[in-house]
Amino acid sequence: MSEQTFNAVVLREEGTKFRAAVENLTFDALPSNDTLVKVEYSTINFKDALAVTGKGKIVKTWPLVPGIDFAGEVLETSNRSLKAGQKVVLTGWSVGEKHWGGYTQYQRVRGEWLVPLPDGLTTRQAMMIGTAGFTGMLCVNALEDAGVTPRSGPVLVTGAAGGVGSVAVAILNKLGYTVSALTGDREKHEYVAGLGAKEFVDGPQWADLARPLEAQKWAAAIDTVGSKVLARVLAEMNYNGVVAACGLAGGADLPTSVMPFILRGVKLLGVDSVMLPSNERIKAWNRIVIDLPANLLDGITAQTVSLSEVGAAAEAMLAGKLLGRVLVDVNR
Ligand SMILES: NC(=O)c1ccc[n+]([C@@H]2O[C@H](COP(=O)([O-])OP(=O)(O)OC[C@H]3O[C@@H](n4cnc5c(N)ncnc54)[C@H](OP(=O)(O)O)[C@@H]3O)[C@@H](O)[C@H]2O)c1
Repeated sequence: MSEQTFNAVVLREEGTKFRAAVENLTFDALPSNDTLVKVEYSTINFKDALAVTGKGKIVKTWPLVPGIDFAGEVLETSNRSLKAGQKVVLTGWSVGEKHWGGYTQYQRVRGEWLVPLPDGLTTRQAMMIGTAGFTGMLCVNALEDAGVTPRSGPVLVTGAAGGVGSVAVAILNKLGYTVSALTGDREKHEYVAGLGAKEFVDGPQWADLARPLEAQKWAAAIDTVGSKVLARVLAEMNYNGVVAACGLAGGADLPTSVMPFILRGVKLLGVDSVMLPSNERIKAWNRIVIDLPANLLDGITAQTVSLSEVGAAAEAMLAGKLLGRVLVDVNR
């Protein structure tokens, strides 16, 4: 196979210059890990958009094939729990940051990073969901593990038209929760309502710093935005409310006080998808098949792009011009 070539997006730092281009690679160029995967689909997550545009400090090693997730078929492996021909999905483990990732037709990774694709899910569907949707599922799991049920009361999702938010809204609605949504743009309401949001809470107050405690509104919340938005969410939680926080789309700071925690017993749960143990990944992927209505996936997928179109789609994502997710067909 070493004679054969294939396409991959490669990020290079040349002096002070950043370069992202589709390159023709040989198999010898791939990392020397134990499992060779024929990649079928990847996707563009917020972190990918920062990496491929050079706008965020995501890349930890140069040169890098970006793409924090992919789904495909195992071609060769020395990992005993995998076999050739098996369909797999990979998210996290710093792939696409420290390790070469999914914007390529072939990748060599550690077998232990791979999750067998659950029955009922195709590689295309897995990447329509991607790390973002997977994280939406993890946020719902975190709320439920903390005792939240549909009877607890309304649940707020922030960044609701984004990748994490879209999937979180769809799953919560399927499970019977009453979902309220915060989006940055009224034009996105129809899309988010189609996923199951019953109410929108946009308004100029979200740009302002909240008081330490505001009127109580939410039994639970999933926050993908951080900063002042998360601070207001905390201030608006019901007594004993639970917030799952996974993102920083609006900023990494958190201008809050201890008041929501010590006067209302609010619980703030951090959600991480990158270093999550394998058994929890397998459980979450299997749950997605049941709790995310498959008929919504086409609607959640804003567009399908080729490797050479990843850069432009990433720019559009960071400019807030996308509704939902971008699928990358690496063989297009
Ligand atoms: N912890 C983890 O393991 C993990 C995994 C995946 C993602 N994340 C993080 O979760 C966040 C969302 O990821 P994603 O893939 O869903 O990204 P995305 O598709 O770009 O969605 C982010 C959404 O956040 C909102 N937003 C963006 N900039 C904002 C701002 N300045 N102020 C307020 N809202 C803003 C927008 O929501 P509207 O369109 O509704 O206005 C946007 O659609 C990112 O920070 C990402 O890094 C974390």
